[in-house]
Parts: sequence; structure tokens; C-alpha cells
Amino acid sequence: MNANPLVTLPSGDTVSALGQGTWTMGDSARRRKEEVSALRLGLDLGMTLIDTAEMYASGGAEEVVGEAIAGRRDEAFLVSKVMPGNASRRGTIAACEKSLKRLKTDRLDLYLLHWPGSIPVAETVEGFTHLKNAGKIRHWGVSNFDVGEMEELVGLPDGGPVATNQVMYNLNRRGIEYDLIPWCEKRRIPIMAYSPLDQGRILRSRALEQVAKRHGATPAQVALAWLLQRKNVMVIPKAGSEAHVRENHGALAVRLGADDFAALDGGFPPPAKKKPLEST
Ligand SMILES: NC(=O)c1ccc[n+]([C@@H]2O[C@H](COP(=O)([O-])OP(=O)(O)OC[C@H]3O[C@@H](n4cnc5c(N)ncnc54)[C@H](OP(=O)(O)O)[C@@H]3O)[C@@H](O)[C@H]2O)c1
Repeated sequence: MNANPLVTLPSGDTVSALGQGTWTMGDSARRRKEEVSALRLGLDLGMTLIDTAEMYASGGAEEVVGEAIAGRRDEAFLVSKVMPGNASRRGTIAACEKSLKRLKTDRLDLYLLHWPGSIPVAETVEGFTHLKNAGKIRHWGVSNFDVGEMEELVGLPDGGPVATNQVMYNLNRRGIEYDLIPWCEKRRIPIMAYSPLDQGRILRSRALEQVAKRHGATPAQVALAWLLQRKNVMVIPKAGSEAHVRENHGALAVRLGADDFAALDGGFPPPAKKKPLEST
């Protein structure tokens, strides 16, 4: 089996780079059994980082994850997120308690602010710090923060321990390569790439199909391999079936070379100037 590369968090802890997303899980009772078995297969294959949020299916995705990790909590690196409207000091603590109940666990490995909102981030960080001291979360971080917001965050008295910034990143959405990735690399803050398949939109691209053909791989595997070959990037494709989990796991066996990167740059050019952070 090909190894899942390790990403080092600023604390020194390591996480397997290829994980699993859960957005839209829990939306349909009919799909629940398949979603639980997909997540469990991912755990079997070492895709131990599981990303969820209180927002997904209004807590329903966290319940699906809770079922998937039942009896095997210690295998998972569990990530959830607080919505900005709940992210006051007290609100963050209360939201975390509710997430823990739905996930049927006593701790999160990583708790993120889902996106910047109107509540000052200093208050959210106070809530995170309280939760960390109480052993309810092991690390905290943010999501959808652009460079200016990251600058403000790390300038706060307790802003230093930010563990990651989870942002949209895939071949089609490369804007962060211009400024946010270099900014994070300089400070050793890893990126967590969400929508790594651009929610399925990139899979029919000609450049991707051609590279995939050369490797006897699928376009999804090449799109994920392209992200996994970057240093310190976590990648969280969402797969609702065992077949898609197996296929995505196969990305770990794809080694892209200079020719492949050049061909993909041709189809998906890197940014030449600053772009606003993308999220949809
Ligand atoms: N922080 C944020 O604001 C934010 C925003 C968006 C997403 N996220 C997180 O990132 C995760 C991933 O992003 P995403 O769900 O937006 O998009 P994604 O992972 O890029 O794409 C998911 C879609 O691709 C399909 N898919 C998965 N594997 C496939 C394969 N091998 N071949 C063909 N299709 C495949 C899935 O279908 P099936 O379900 O049928 O397998 C689903 O429709 C989310 O689930 C969530 O945890 C975070």
C-alpha cells in the first residue's frame, strides 16, 4: 500500500495528508448507511483525517461521522467547525459541546472557525483557548481566511497557535498560490485543501484526462495527486461511496513528474496576480 504523506502541524504533531470530507453527508436518510461505510473504509485505508462541521446537514453530518468512528475514535483525526454567528467566546464553547455530543466523543483533534464573520476573531480565539485548556480540543484553526485576516489573527496575543487554514484549493482554483500559500509556508502553517475535485467540476478536463491516461489513473486520482505532491497540504475529498473512496485512495500511488506538472499548468494556469479568496 502506498504511504499517506504526513503533514506537520505547528505543534509538531503529524496528520496523514489524504483525508475525507463530509459536506452533504447526513442530508438523506437513504444514503446514510453508504456514507458510514464509505468513511469506515477510508479509516481502514488510513485516510484518518475526517473533516466535518456543525453546519453540514444542520449537525447531521457530525452524526454520520459519530456512527462511522464508533468503537474506533482513536484511529481518527477529527476536525469540526463553528459557524461565525456562534463564534463568540461563550458561543464557541457551547457549539463545541453540541458537536461533541453529535460526534459521540469527548474531544476534537482540530476545531476551526468556518469563515470570518462579524464577531471579533479575538473572542473566538478566547473560546478556542478555553476549550484547549479543558481538553475538549487538541488544536484550533481557521477556514476561508485570506492573507489580511491571517495577519490580524497571528497579531492577536493568543493567535500564534493557529494550526491550519482550510481553504478552497484545486487545479481550477489556484489563486492562493500567489500570496496565501507563500505566507503560510513562511510561518509553517499548513493549508487544508477543500473541494480538491472542485466538487466534480474538473473531472472532464482534457489536460487532466491526458495526464491520467499516461499514468493508467483516473482524472480524480491525478487531481488529488497534484495536491498531495505539494508539501504540507492536507487534502479532504468527499466521497459518498466505497468505490469513490477506493479510487481516491489510489491517488497515493500516482507519482506526477515534471512533464505532468507542465501539462497541468497548461490546462490550469497558475495565478499571475492577486485574486480574491474563492469559496464557491
Ligand atoms: N471550509 C469550508 O468552507 C468548506 C467548503 C466546502 C467543502 N469543505 C470540506 O471539504 C470537503 C471536500 O469538498 P467538497 O465536498 O466541496 O468537494 P470535492 O471533494 O471536491 O468533491 C465532492 C464531489 O466529488 C464526487 N467524487 C468524490 N470522489 C470522486 C471520484 N473518485 N470520482 C468522481 N467523483 C468523485 C463526490 O461524489 P460522491 O459523494 O457521489 O462520492 C462529490 O459529488 C467537504 O466535504 C467538506 O468537508 C469545506
